[in-house]
Amino acid sequence: MSILPITSLKPQIKNIIDDYTEFCDGPTFGVIEEERLASYCKEVSIMGWVREFRSQTENAFISLTDGSTSEALQVFASKAVVPDFDNLENIRGACIQVSGKVVKSPAKGQLIELVASNIKIIGEVQDKKSILLSKSVNLETLRGYQHLRSRFRSYNYIYKIRSTLLKNIHEFFHLNNFYNLDPNVITTSDCEGAGEVFTITSMDLNETKSKIIEQTKKLCEVMQHESEEDFDEKFKVLQESKEQEIITDNIFKDDFFSKQAFLTVSSQLQLEALTAGLSRVYTLNPSFRAEKSRTKRHLGCFTHLEWEIAFIDINDLMNFSESLIKYVIGKTLKDCENEYKELDKFISKGIIDKLNSFISSDFERITYTKAIELVEENKKQILKKFNKEGITIKDIPKWGDDLGSYCERFICEEIYKKPTFIYNYPKDLKSFYMKETKSDPRCVEAVDLVLPQLGELIGSSIREENYEKLIDAMDKRSMDKSKLDWYLELRKNSTFPHGGAGLGFDRLVNMCTLMDGNIRDVVPFPVAYQECDY
Ligand code: 4AD
Ligand code: MG
Repeated sequence: MSILPITSLKPQIKNIIDDYTEFCDGPTFGVIEEERLASYCKEVSIMGWVREFRSQTENAFISLTDGSTSEALQVFASKAVVPDFDNLENIRGACIQVSGKVVKSPAKGQLIELVASNIKIIGEVQDKKSILLSKSVNLETLRGYQHLRSRFRSYNYIYKIRSTLLKNIHEFFHLNNFYNLDPNVITTSDCEGAGEVFTITSMDLNETKSKIIEQTKKLCEVMQHESEEDFDEKFKVLQESKEQEIITDNIFKDDFFSKQAFLTVSSQLQLEALTAGLSRVYTLNPSFRAEKSRTKRHLGCFTHLEWEIAFIDINDLMNFSESLIKYVIGKTLKDCENEYKELDKFISKGIIDKLNSFISSDFERITYTKAIELVEENKKQILKKFNKEGITIKDIPKWGDDLGSYCERFICEEIYKKPTFIYNYPKDLKSFYMKETKSDPRCVEAVDLVLPQLGELIGSSIREENYEKLIDAMDKRSMDKSKLDWYLELRKNSTFPHGGAGLGFDRLVNMCTLMDGNIRDVVPFPVAYQECDY
């Protein structure tokens, strides 16, 4: 039994085109090439959606798509042959089944056509005002029609490229001996320590509410507050106090996990555990962030490509990220050549040149300290460029401040005009798990990759492998170590040098399909702050 391709499924337009292409490449056996091609004739029955419909009195031309390729199959229907020919009027957008013969097309600019013997209308567009019947719709408008987006040509290209990027990412990691393991997305730790976590609970809202009140009252009694009048005031004080943790613990004691649990913001800590023993692991888990920002780059849930590698240093970490990006973009440009040609013509003019320029030279590598110097030297230009976005002189960072996405963008867009690694950041700006920089103990071995028009794509670091130093970093941040005793054990017993990274996959797709695009336009059913409609 043949396994590939699955022959038990109906053929798709791609199979039909491939079959003819194969026939064209076949031996001629002395027959004149043109005659041989003219002899091509294959009986098929195919289903798809009508992209275009054009009719004359005696004939009709249908452009049929089914997503298997961005190309459409031309269907020729003649009144003399196709029963119910007159019912075909206005079938644009409809789902139809066509039976007939595939032959070499007599028309210029197309290889083949399907000469229909029968056309069955499966699903008409009943609502004549449906957006599906609009001739041209921009991506912004389609944001409000997530469930219909895959019917539009632009999404043939965007989703095909998204899917191919994923394929090539898996390929790259497997070529380099990685294990693809997905730690659970339910966790008890907040890896980044930014407090942007979604709590999950199986308790109903009223139950939770009454538990909060009950626990708070109990605590108030313990604290010998008798009056109910200034409850709100006391509650506020409690929320800011250590006692709040006791309340939280008590509330979640009866919950599903008998403790408070979150949706993960990053699978990194668990990947680090897996790396001990397996050496190289990666995941494409979703990460969830309750970030209250409505920018073009932030989602509440995003596909997070994370990898962790044993026995590496900061240069290996940068080399690896650079190779990954170059391999994945280079291969996807080839795999999706047709889709890129179309995107470049209509939606994203200049996309092919942009991506080729990213992968054709070395990425820039500068320290955070150098980045701050560049910001100081170029502050006038930065203010001019980002004036419209409300950036003023007080937003220009000094050593120790966050660089801000506008400065990151300025550095890679205007100064280097290429992807840029920024490394060795001040400790206080970064997470507890990062390794101290040997040459400058004020810094940690953190590396961000920033790209023109996009900003940060990768956040990475070498991890602190020293037990005492890690404890010290946690204490400085007043972290509850008891929740991460398993993580600390990795340092206590057979610790090992390692590092890893997180890449916002949806940001990568955005960069690889659009020019200065919006992340919502490349994610199937995106969710973000105050946006969750499906
Ligand atoms: O820089 P971040 O926060 O790093 C981490 O989470 C590390 N624990 C990763 C690791 O070392 N394993 O996030 C990594 C990347 C960012 O550079 C960005 O591209 C993306 O994740 N990202 C988001 N993408 C979309 N929406 C959001 N709200 C994002 N937050 C981060
Ligand atoms: Mg980051």
